[in-house]
Amino acid sequence: MVQATNWDPELYEARHSFVWQFGQDLLDLLNPKPGERVLDLGCGPGNLTQRIADRGAHVVGLDSSAAMIGQARQNYPRLQFVLGDAAAMKFDGEFDAVFSNAALHWMLDARAVAGAIGRALKKNGRLVAELGGKGNIEHIERALESVLARYIGELPLRRTFFPSIGAYTALLEEQGLEVRMAQLFDRPTKLEGEKGMENWLRQFSWYYFEALPNREREAALREVIEELRPALLGEGGWLADYRRLRIVAARV
Ligand SMILES: C[S@@+](CC[C@H](N)C(=O)[O-])C[C@H]1O[C@@H](n2cnc3c(N)ncnc32)[C@H](O)[C@@H]1O
Repeated sequence: MVQATNWDPELYEARHSFVWQFGQDLLDLLNPKPGERVLDLGCGPGNLTQRIADRGAHVVGLDSSAAMIGQARQNYPRLQFVLGDAAAMKFDGEFDAVFSNAALHWMLDARAVAGAIGRALKKNGRLVAELGGKGNIEHIERALESVLARYIGELPLRRTFFPSIGAYTALLEEQGLEVRMAQLFDRPTKLEGEKGMENWLRQFSWYYFEALPNREREAALREVIEELRPALLGEGGWLADYRRLRIVAARV
């Protein structure tokens, strides 16, 4: 499969630890019990996978980035990590819970992923997930699109999707999951340091710049940052305009 973005585990861990740190209260919603089998979908470098294991559950982390899985295995050698695409996974009625933080919006074949999650769960098993929701990073995407439009006529296809409650819950229901909680909320997110926005763009949106010839990429990146300055740089530094969608669903 084509990787949505080129995941750089070092940059991710050094600069974007807020992603999994925000995920910690999602863990309380998951509330894993000792002995339960849990799948951490899009586990990245495995920090939340380890926290699930800390609560006594048997956890498997799955991720489609070889670099992320390599980092996870290095970070937590006692845990089981599987390299694979969530849309193609073949688990069958094995898990009490599927957990996913900040990953489902990268999985564009959302229908196949929802089906695979449903099949991976035992009957009455639960999905507890958070992803980017409708309106997520709207300022950032608008700036990317307006700058890129000045360089090239046609924009690269988006590699993320940020669904509304209606769209995403309908999709889960189609795949036999019963949605028990759905919440969409703003979560302006502080990016560390003066280069916060630059680091964020390099990690999460670099594929936009890859549509440009090499020599133009840095100039375009500067322009995007300038365009975002008025809306997203405040006295406390850079804020990303995150909106999250939280979901609890069950296989019935
Ligand atoms: C922002 S990271 C989140 C990682 C981790 N859950 C955390 O909270 O730190 C998103 C992860 O989703 C993974 N991912 C994207 N598409 C995927 C797919 N189709 N199947 C499995 N993993 C995928 C990426 O490789 C990346 O590691």
